[in-house]
Amino acid sequence: MDVPGYALITGAASGIGRACAHAFANEGSAGLALLDLNADALDLVKGEIETVISKRQNGVINGHGPPQILTYGLDITNEKSVNSVVNEVAQEFGRIDYVVNAAGIAIKHQGGAAFAKTSDWQRVLDINITGTFFVLRAAAQVMLKQEPILSSIDGRPLQRGSIVNFSSIQGVVGITLSTAYTTAKHAVIGLTRTASEDYAGQGLRINAICPGYTKTPMTTKNSDVLKAMEERVASAVPMGRMGDPKEIADGVMYLAGGRSSFVTGSALIVDGGYTSR
Ligand SMILES: NC(=O)c1ccc[n+]([C@@H]2O[C@H](COP(=O)([O-])OP(=O)(O)OC[C@H]3O[C@@H](n4cnc5c(N)ncnc54)[C@H](O)[C@@H]3O)[C@@H](O)[C@H]2O)c1
Repeated sequence: MDVPGYALITGAASGIGRACAHAFANEGSAGLALLDLNADALDLVKGEIETVISKRQNGVINGHGPPQILTYGLDITNEKSVNSVVNEVAQEFGRIDYVVNAAGIAIKHQGGAAFAKTSDWQRVLDINITGTFFVLRAAAQVMLKQEPILSSIDGRPLQRGSIVNFSSIQGVVGITLSTAYTTAKHAVIGLTRTASEDYAGQGLRINAICPGYTKTPMTTKNSDVLKAMEERVASAVPMGRMGDPKEIADGVMYLAGGRSSFVTGSALIVDGGYTSR
């Protein structure tokens, strides 16, 4: 996927963010900064990646050594922490080539919009929109000052930086009992489009990914929710199954890396056909 540079991934302790961390490492990225609220789980992910890499011949991927891995426990809604961690990562690595804004939460409102609690609404918007914006803003400031990365395939200059924001199928369609989440994921596409316009001429690409129902702790931790979801998936998703986090990470790799060098402001739907119905 042509991702030789340095990646910063939020929500990297679990689910799709974790799968993205593995994917960047497997595809030969030089460094990974893994960010999440859950610092202990981040250490586990770091250990998993180091184990996978060490099992390869001499730990060599795409002609160079294993990726440098940094971990940071932080809350992406804390503006000061985000600014300081993003700047620290830029100093440690010398640059940040790819940002994956995967941290997010989902809350269902029993009874729908009429009964949604203000605290739930605020929390979902704070994390899914404002946190994503804080990370995008801090990273864009770093990226705009750096020279374009060179392709690991043919040496041509690629983007100055590439940011992938996490929307959802709920960024393009509504799903019941999801007032705040659906609103937030629509907003992430708006943020992506306007910011991509701001910097398209300066070599900074900004895209969104819209996963469909995907098997991660977000969707599987409650067995009742999972059962209801699997029933819905069987009839509503043309492929008749949930996605694997690795399948979403493959879309992220495409948007982050050189293979998508002419793509910005887009929202890539990876949903087994759900939104085509
Ligand atoms: N799983 C799905 O079906 C699905 C579908 C569409 C979109 N998404 C989106 O994909 C992204 C990843 O979801 P997932 O399914 O892997 O979820 P997950 O719950 O497995 O992982 C989310 C991670 O984000 C972290 N996080 C939450 N709030 C945070 C905060 N304030 N600061 C820092 N980290 C925080 C959590 O600790 C967790 O490790 C989310 O943005 C989600 O909305 C998921």
